[in-house]
Parts: sequence; structure tokens; C-alpha cells
Amino acid sequence: MKASVIGTGSALPKTVVKNDDFKQWVDTDDEWIYSHTGIKERRIAKDETLISLAADAAKKALADAGVSGEEIDLIIAATFTPDCFTPTLACMLQNEVGATCPAFDLNAACSGFIYALDVGYRYIKSGAAKKVLIVAADMLSRVTNFSDRGTCVLFGDGAGAAVLSAQGEGNIIYSKTEAESDTKFSLRIPGLYSRFPLNESLPKEESVVSMDGNEIYMNAVRTMTRDIKKALSESGLTISDIDYIVPHQANSRIIDAVAIKLKMLKEKFFMNMPKYGNTSAASVAIALDELSKSGMLRKGTHVALCAFGGGFTSGCAILEWAK
Ligand code: UT7
Repeated sequence: MKASVIGTGSALPKTVVKNDDFKQWVDTDDEWIYSHTGIKERRIAKDETLISLAADAAKKALADAGVSGEEIDLIIAATFTPDCFTPTLACMLQNEVGATCPAFDLNAACSGFIYALDVGYRYIKSGAAKKVLIVAADMLSRVTNFSDRGTCVLFGDGAGAAVLSAQGEGNIIYSKTEAESDTKFSLRIPGLYSRFPLNESLPKEESVVSMDGNEIYMNAVRTMTRDIKKALSESGLTISDIDYIVPHQANSRIIDAVAIKLKMLKEKFFMNMPKYGNTSAASVAIALDELSKSGMLRKGTHVALCAFGGGFTSGCAILEWAK
């Protein structure tokens, strides 16, 4: 059985926060943030909830695919910043899209979309599902320490979605996820936080992102380079067969370093982090949706998706565009 991406969608909060807006919280400026990360602005949820963004992205992906919610056999939602821990985001989405199928959440941090795609791909390949809705959504603003300049400028909120189907031209030609235990807890959110915090007395540093940026940077360059090389060798493709890479949108310097290591043109890496920053699990999903709607993809175009995240998780998938 083959599996194809047959529709994509994304949704971003309305409120734009520009780099210089962070001056009200920390000692920083646009020049430092842009030159060190490639980020110019990000969207931060004010009126939106995670389910409102996720449902918006999911409905757009279903409309793009020409599929109704009733036709979906499985919903997988990737997030680590849900509105609440139960019902899960996937179960809330079931109601929003009018589906009656099994639904569950997974947490693979910023690699969440690739992990969800990989699971959906395997359900379809095994014959256990014919149509799978995958949604990746995060609101990092819920777990951001706005007094830590080393992290607060990096993240944004958003959601992206895709519909996978057994009917199509088999365009997921490779998919693999990886994990390596981050024994140093280089990227961590120890506390429990949701839309309705359970424990208001939890010390702030226990409920927000803290990270060793340099450690994650080096790990990101190493794992993305390794995963793309492995994907090419295991799928029988070469660098020149890949038309676009849709990487996790954490830092343009990480992407520059991966491009150099792969001896690949930087122009092949699709980047939208100047507009949205790092939207965690949603980042690759939003970028894939924008690339797919850009008109740049043709039948036969090869697109490699790759991500890394806390854990450490990582993953790579190769799509041969079929539409
Ligand atoms: O999805 C995974 C999420 N995490 C990541 O992807 C993070 C990966 N790491 C990175 O992107 C980079 O390591 C950062 C962007 C976080 C940091 O960039 P860097 O070039 O590695 O800077 P640095 O941490 O080595 O800090 C250099 C200087 C320090 O000042 P001193 O000690 O040299 O005086 C920092 O305090 O830059 C300072 N700095 C800032 N200055 C102005 C750190 N953040 C800021 C800031 N504005 N926002």
C-alpha cells in the first residue's frame, strides 16, 4: 500500500510581535536577533487557543484534499503545549472536523509533524487506515520565559496540518524518525503547564523553556545532516534529485551549516522563520503548506522534510509531489 500527502493547511495567530518589541522585556534588538537567528517577527496568540488554530489548519487541509471529516480513519495531533491534557487535542479536533475515528496526541517536541507523518504513513502502508489527518500545533508563548533573552526571541505560535491518503500517487517515498537521549536535558520544560495551570505556585523557571542553545545548535546541525544523508542513501536518491528541503525553522544559521555540510545550494532550503520564528511541532507543517501553495511544486518534484527537537528527536521524510 502506498501513502500520499493529498492536502495541507496552516493557521497563525493574528498578533505580530516584531524583534524590537522584545526591548520592553529584555536587553536585545532587531540587529542581534536577525543576525543570530534569521527571525524578524513571530505570531503570538492573544485571542486564539491551540484548538482554534489546530482546527483552522485541519479544516484547510481537508478542504485542500477534498476530503470530509467523516472520511478520516485516524487523527494524530503533535503538540507539547495542549489546551488541556485530556481531552487530547486530537479528540477535540475530532469534534471540530466531524470525524468519528480513533484520535491521539503525540509529543516529539519540534519533530512532532515528522513523527505524526511517519505514524500516519505506517498506518496507511499496513492497511489499518485509508485516510489520516495529521495536525501539528504549538503555543510556545505559554512556556516562554519573557525575561530570558536567550530563548524568548526564538519562538512563535502556530498550527499546520496534512491529509494522508492511500489513494494518490504514492508520494511519501521515505520516512524515518530517530531519537537520542538528551542526558544533559539541554532543552527542557520540567513543569506542567496548560491553558489552565494546575499549580500557580510552581516556580517560573520550572514551567518555562530553558536550554543550552549552543549544545542544541551543534546537535541540530549534526542530526539534520545525518538524517538527510541516511534518507538519500536508503531511498536510492542523490542530493541533486532533491528539489527542496523543508527544514525545522529554528535558526537560519543552522540551515546554512547543514547546506554547507551537504554541499547543497542554500536556495533549496525553504525558509519562513523570518515571519514566524520557531513554531516547534508546527514549523515543518506550516512551511510545507506555504511551499505547496506557492506554485513552486510540480509533478515529480522531490521535497525532503527534516526536523530536530528536544528529547533529542529528529526525523526525515521524502515526498515525490504528485499533484
Ligand atoms: O527547536 C529547537 C529550539 N532551540 C534551538 O534551535 C536553539 C539552537 N541554538 C541557537 O539558535 C543559538 O545557539 C542561539 C540563537 C540560541 C544563540 O546564538 P549564539 O550565537 O549561539 O549566541 P550565544 O548563546 O553564544 O550568546 C552570545 C552572546 C551572549 O552574550 P556574551 O555572554 O557574549 O556577552 C548572550 O548573552 O549573545 C547574548 N545574547 C543576546 N544578545 C542580545 C543571547 N541572546 C541575546 C539576545 N539579544 N536575544
